[in-house]
Amino acid sequence: MLNRLLFRLAGIGAIAGSMAAQGPGRVGGFPQYTRTLASQDVLARGKSLYDANCGACHAPDMRGVPEKNGPNLLRSTETFSDKQGEHVAASLLKHNPVVNLPESDTFAISEYIHSIQATMGGQGSPPGRNPVGLTYNVLIGDPKAGATAFTKLCASCHSVTGDLKGIGAKYDDPKALQGAWVAGRAGGFGFGRGGGGQQATVTLANGQKLEGRLVRKDDFLVVITLPDGTRKSIERDNGVPKVDVKDPQEAHKKMILAMDDPENKNLHDITAYLATIR
Ligand code: HEC
Ligand code: HEC
Repeated sequence: MLNRLLFRLAGIGAIAGSMAAQGPGRVGGFPQYTRTLASQDVLARGKSLYDANCGACHAPDMRGVPEKNGPNLLRSTETFSDKQGEHVAASLLKHNPVVNLPESDTFAISEYIHSIQATMGGQGSPPGRNPVGLTYNVLIGDPKAGATAFTKLCASCHSVTGDLKGIGAKYDDPKALQGAWVAGRAGGFGFGRGGGGQQATVTLANGQKLEGRLVRKDDFLVVITLPDGTRKSIERDNGVPKVDVKDPQEAHKKMILAMDDPENKNLHDITAYLATIR
């Protein structure tokens, strides 16, 4: 669930591509070639969702993964006859286990499948790798609204004049910038006590707890740097002392889950705002 969400957020952007106006995929021929395609925004969302939820069994190129018995979706009568995701949705209910997705997600995925089918040659010959020419443009948000969202959601831990100074220049590619803040990836910019390293708590046999930055941990030894800078090596035996390593990305995972952002408005706005911080 979390992975899916992160993936979804990270992968989404509106699209500026070769298909600015959405006409039929192709003129003449079978319905799968002439269907009107959804907007690029929906197709991009569908692609992210497909890759995350379907690709493992139906393959990234939709031609199926034999070891998973996933059929080729490009030639499937279900996807050919599908209009608005209704056939795909019915198929998902027949999966074992059932694949549960919100209707809007199923719609986006089926539109994405249609868009690939629209580019196929005769006899279901394979489409190219990126046949509809999708390119992500993630800089479509409103930087002003992003500044407001930043104050609300991020300012408790970050400052654009402090630890995130110049963040827009550091990640010059907006996709990388969006990926970095969504994931909360360590940048070695001296954030927090550990300066970007992993924080660990070592619980000694007598119950005493030591907190510090993890230098090394294996079955036989744990080494941490304490807040005063001293280094401490402690032998381990059978998992004693216990070592808890804090997931440095935990704050961001929680934040993304808590962010009520069905239209990805905050996502786009915050990225647009951070891009101006140079
Ligand atoms: C765990 C593997 C798995 C995943 C994940 C999966 N599928 Fe499937 N899918 C299958 C298998 C296996 C079948 C064939 C099932 C059958 O015929 O009973 C199938 C059948 C289908 C069919 C019907 C094809 C036909 O011609 O009958 C469609 C459409 C479909 N899947 C779409 C999707 C979509 C869209 C997703 C993602 C949201 C998805 N599937 C995720 C394994 C998977
Ligand atoms: C509860 C505290 C917390 C909140 C709230 C938070 N972050 Fe973070 N963020 C962190 C921590 C901790 C790291 C560093 C993780 C690490 O060291 O691996 C981080 C890392 C980052 C990075 C990577 C910096 C770099 O130089 O690579 C960016 C960008 C970022 N956060 C942006 C944001 C934005 C934008 C928001 C609000 C939408 C936000 N953060 C909200 C704690 C937080």
